[in-house]
Amino acid sequence: MRNFLLSPSLLSCDFTNLEREIQMLNNSVADWLHLDIMDGVFVPNITFGQPVIKQIKKHSLKPLDVHLMITDPDRYFDDFKNCGADILSVHYEACTHLHRSVTRIKELGMKAAVVLNPHTPIANLEDIIKECYMILLMSVNPGFGGQKFIENSLIKIAKLREMIDKHNAQCLIEVDGGVTLDNYCKIVEAGADVLVAGNAIFATDNPLETIKKFKKPLF
Ligand code: DX5
Ligand code: ZN
Repeated sequence: MRNFLLSPSLLSCDFTNLEREIQMLNNSVADWLHLDIMDGVFVPNITFGQPVIKQIKKHSLKPLDVHLMITDPDRYFDDFKNCGADILSVHYEACTHLHRSVTRIKELGMKAAVVLNPHTPIANLEDIIKECYMILLMSVNPGFGGQKFIENSLIKIAKLREMIDKHNAQCLIEVDGGVTLDNYCKIVEAGADVLVAGNAIFATDNPLETIKKFKKPLF
């Protein structure tokens, strides 16, 4: 099996015990922490913002993979840098001047990623791919945890892998939404480098063990 990174999504964690959840992730074989920022406009849900990220940063030993599901995200790039984002992902659908957005994220010293919604074609990445540290493919419509993986995402992953090779680009492919212990192997085999999983980890009795199970074929 190909190597991959695991980025548990805190969206499904127990927010009343956030510090304990972060310590659990520190002690786990997870690679990053995935933070879903929603504004109730770009997506039909609201989560948390910079003050919470700042607290998470204080405790986390792992990189913060921050997924912005907000309109006009450029307004807040400096804030997200200041509160500790390491990787900042912006939606193709939310950035009118995407090249400028990606350039600014990098200027601020963060790694820049572009996100595509399930309906947005891979071809739209052709002229930005070489600038990106990572492309995040949504395999559900963003807004909520615990949704079902959209199977067409597998075709998109393969198409993106082809485009990356064609351009001799270095960027990673992250897949977010509906990733479970039952389907993650085929997602990795299709070409994913980073998997986000929320519900499949935090809705289990022992998230630490579940994280280990995700990584098991590699050991
Ligand atoms: C959805 C978010 C995801 C979400 C994934 O809008 O971007 O990161 O937390 O949750 P699961 O793994 O439960 O589908
Ligand atoms: Zn996400």
